[in-house]
Amino acid sequence: MIQDTINIKINSTPKSRVSEVDWENLPFGKVFSDHMLIMEYSNGEWGQPEIMPFGNLSMHPATSAIHYGQSIFEGMKANRTVDNEVTIFRPEMNALRFVESCERMCMPTIPVDTFVELVRKTVEIDKNWIPSKEGFSLYIRPFMFATDEFVGIKPSESYKFIIFTCPVGAYYSEPVNVKIEEFYTRASVGGVGRAKTAGNYGASLYPARLGQANGFHQLIWTDGKEHKFIEESGTMNVIFMIDGKMITPSEDADTILRGVTKRSVIEIAASWGIPVEERKVTVEEVIEAARSGKLQDAFGAGTAATIAHIAKIGFRDEVFTLPGLETREISNKIKKYLDDLKTGKIEDTLNWCLKV
Ligand code: COI
Repeated sequence: MIQDTINIKINSTPKSRVSEVDWENLPFGKVFSDHMLIMEYSNGEWGQPEIMPFGNLSMHPATSAIHYGQSIFEGMKANRTVDNEVTIFRPEMNALRFVESCERMCMPTIPVDTFVELVRKTVEIDKNWIPSKEGFSLYIRPFMFATDEFVGIKPSESYKFIIFTCPVGAYYSEPVNVKIEEFYTRASVGGVGRAKTAGNYGASLYPARLGQANGFHQLIWTDGKEHKFIEESGTMNVIFMIDGKMITPSEDADTILRGVTKRSVIEIAASWGIPVEERKVTVEEVIEAARSGKLQDAFGAGTAATIAHIAKIGFRDEVFTLPGLETREISNKIKKYLDDLKTGKIEDTLNWCLKV
């Protein structure tokens, strides 16, 4: 039973690499902290988690995740506050989403409390890797994959759960240009779009590359059946401000990832009295709003991307330029509120930041 083994074995590194980091030039996702946590599943139960020096894994060539795709992950962030405390933003939301991904992918679940505690310990051991510079944080990557050494299609009976962390700056260094995709599909009803599973990202690479060749950073995916409804972008959920209302695709369809940042944005906006509509959003209404000047703002919301303003939207042969960033009053205010909350500049009345 996992609850009996929450006692984590700790094997710390004899020599930290933190002094080698070039904090002024921190690329996203390429610098890794000293430690990682590994917990293995076999014979129907989770073993004892172990924190050990970050390093390579050795794998059998028939490791089933590589062939059949049972591989899921999460992304969250820890920040250093102005009082030099460390907090993790809403980790229980990621833990719940991880359970959903496990279930959809036939993988063993990890109880929410256990997941959060394992994340907390992994952050705690490398807390001197958390940047204090504004806009920087420690990205946390928990993931799980199937480890049966077997050729054949069936759910694996063994798994590895790993957490590593990376000090990071902004994922996007500038406002993004996105193209509304009307041919390729990220997810279909009944598929795995709601799960944070590796294959969703692999499948998006080719269409994204076609968009990038035309100057777009990312795509905005539309529904797989009619390509009439907006879904999400490859790295973030999407939110529009049309005529004073915040509008975002609802998560009722099982094709959209339940975003923690998006949920936070709409909860904040609603608490400020901004009208929020979570519903089906048509491509037509967004394009019509862009044409008539009613599209006041569009932005992505994601853990890595945070709040990423959209500068241009491409649709068929047209490109619509959105209003200047200085006019994006609501998204700018929400971005600042979230940053201030995470860095302890304002009181965490919502209890969203877990102290490490
Ligand atoms: C995240 O936002 O945490 C993701 O997993 C998306 C990826 C682009 C890094």
